[in-house]
Amino acid sequence: MESSNINLVPISLLKKHKQKISSNSEKVFSEELVIEKIKKIVKEENIYLISHYYTDPKIQKITEELNGCVSDSLQMAKAGSTSDSETIVVSGVKFMGETAKILSPEKRIIMPTLEATCSLDLGCPADDFKKFCESYPDREIVVYANTSAEVKALADWVVTSSIALEVVDYLDAKGKKILWAPDKHLGSYIRNQTKADMIMWDGACVVHEEFKHEGLKKLIKLHPDAEILVHPESPSSVVELADCVGSTSQLINYANSSISKKFVVATDKGIFYQLLKNNPEKEFYEAPTAGNGATCNSCSMCPWMGMNSIMNLYDAVKNKTNEISLDEAIMKKARISLDRMVNFK
Ligand code: 13P
Ligand code: SF4
Repeated sequence: MESSNINLVPISLLKKHKQKISSNSEKVFSEELVIEKIKKIVKEENIYLISHYYTDPKIQKITEELNGCVSDSLQMAKAGSTSDSETIVVSGVKFMGETAKILSPEKRIIMPTLEATCSLDLGCPADDFKKFCESYPDREIVVYANTSAEVKALADWVVTSSIALEVVDYLDAKGKKILWAPDKHLGSYIRNQTKADMIMWDGACVVHEEFKHEGLKKLIKLHPDAEILVHPESPSSVVELADCVGSTSQLINYANSSISKKFVVATDKGIFYQLLKNNPEKEFYEAPTAGNGATCNSCSMCPWMGMNSIMNLYDAVKNKTNEISLDEAIMKKARISLDRMVNFK
């Protein structure tokens, strides 16, 4: 009889459990080892790591420990060109690696995976966007950084959510009419704030579109003392409930300097690593998504950011896999609109 101990647990089950524990601890051990290997190669070869706030907290932590750059997409764009390293590893989504390459064409830009794209980029194919632009030849073309290099090459300006308001305000004050792409929610937010004349592309982020007004209102009732932090890729019905609307870095800075002790956060969960690290005494709650209509999109985690892992980061630094390579002519054109973004004061 296998089940001879006092709790009558079959020995086969115990054996299985023991095996699971030991394979888990092997996993933890090997991940630690992999992290050490990443650190060794990065230091020896003077590789510069740049990672977005939505990536796995372990990737953010390694990046910080190696004096790399963990930031929002605007700072990521700037960091690549100011680093003296010849090899840069960008953990994030593809447009972030492409932006780094366009701004530093002489450097080797590699990514843990080239498959990590973005719903805004996917929803704005360059050929269709070109036709859209041709229908409005009198407009200044302003595109969000979350687009392909080909779309950036068609634009007059590239912006991120950190400076979109200021750039549109500046263009509006010069009497320019604007063609905006691809995020309709960010576009509507900017139009409401600036009253600029804006024609919009119909795109949205699969992650932020899931945040819901009613669910958030219920959570606010439960925590009336909480401040509400919302990324402007969220629908306007969610944005209208916010105390702070801003890019990832703006939301983090707001939470750092606010005297409030509680926050509800409507953006990708990866940001909680920085929020909690900087403010261990404060409480952060996830904004509700999708309610009864929840799908697997409703987890507040960008599926593409989630494709970056310790293992493929290791592969990238060790084997220099997934190098970004772009057409020279496209890079030259896209550089003009990107330079305007990074040099905008
Ligand atoms: P930030 O520029 O605010 O970091 O946003 C990038 C992004 O992809 C948000 O979904
Ligand atoms: Fe794109 Fe949304 Fe993911 Fe940001 S969170 S990278 S906008 S899909």
